[in-house]
Amino acid sequence: MTDTTTISVAGEPGYDITIGRGVLASLSEKLPANAQKVLIVHPPTLAAQAESLRAQLVGDRQVLLAEIPDAEQGKRVEVAAFCWQVMGQADFTRTDAVIGFGGGAVTDLAGFVAATWLRGVALVQVPTTVLGMVDAAVGGKTGINTAEGKNLVGAFWPPVAVVCDLDLLDTLSKNEATAGFAEVVKAGFIWHPEILDLIEADPENIVDPRGEAFRRCIELAIDMKARVVGEDLREAGLREVLNYGHTLGHAIEHAERYRWRHGAAISVGMVFAAELSRLAGRLSDDVAQRHRTVLESLGLPTTYRAGAFQTLKATMQRDKKSRGSMLRFIVLDDLARPTVLQAPDESLLFAAYQEVGA
Ligand code: GLY
Repeated sequence: MTDTTTISVAGEPGYDITIGRGVLASLSEKLPANAQKVLIVHPPTLAAQAESLRAQLVGDRQVLLAEIPDAEQGKRVEVAAFCWQVMGQADFTRTDAVIGFGGGAVTDLAGFVAATWLRGVALVQVPTTVLGMVDAAVGGKTGINTAEGKNLVGAFWPPVAVVCDLDLLDTLSKNEATAGFAEVVKAGFIWHPEILDLIEADPENIVDPRGEAFRRCIELAIDMKARVVGEDLREAGLREVLNYGHTLGHAIEHAERYRWRHGAAISVGMVFAAELSRLAGRLSDDVAQRHRTVLESLGLPTTYRAGAFQTLKATMQRDKKSRGSMLRFIVLDDLARPTVLQAPDESLLFAAYQEVGA
């Protein structure tokens, strides 16, 4: 194993996020000592690695595998029911544990299963994508989708540990790593500007998981998330800053029927939020423009259909994160100075949209 970084998340109790290469070898130590049974929830693409994990963890304990559909198809109540069935048939008790092994959708579902079985059993998250490591697996948001929308059913259920083994990222396609990197860019604008400097220094190679700068960016993004959720698990205040770029981004994902990657949608959303900040007289031209140059240097989109404003606005108003029908946006007063802009004028919204419309 190479050097390991540990980032702690505050809470009652808190938990550690372990980052490094080969850190999966110590997964057993992250499980509660008294867990006699462990369920590994994984997608079909990780079946072989899940079997290796099972072989590594068995000993005195029983380790079961639950293979679930990949991506959003896995975040259905029928899939959760399948996992509950596996646990019920194996007599899972309150001291047993669940491991979420996969991308963000898998860790969301595994977390929901852990949160609901016997009103909550221990959860260890092992994210296998950039997005999973820097966002979904950290912070205790778990959930499933319903016919009425995404993530409408869920629970705040923090894991007991998160293990980010960078070896797992070596086989990701550049497209996938780049899409995940949009959340890393977000962390750069709202919290750790060092990320932006690192990207600007070498945009061609920054998403190569073997690079030192890549690892530093991942660690900074995780550090940001850990600090935010450590202070505000239930999104009563500070956690809302994580929605930077997401209000318009979610509306674009919806308009595209979820065929756009999340990272691509929030990339446009961040440029929009920056323009909103600038036109509201809060943010300098330079920082607003820096959004475009950084995101475009990674190959992420910064524009969307010019005629889509009314449709996107209607979707934003229905989003569960608006308060009533009042729109709220996270905007920037400067780098690393996020704040809330509530109920902006329609004319301001429209003007900001003109800046991303193409
Ligand atoms: N992904 C946003 C949050 O964890 O709050």
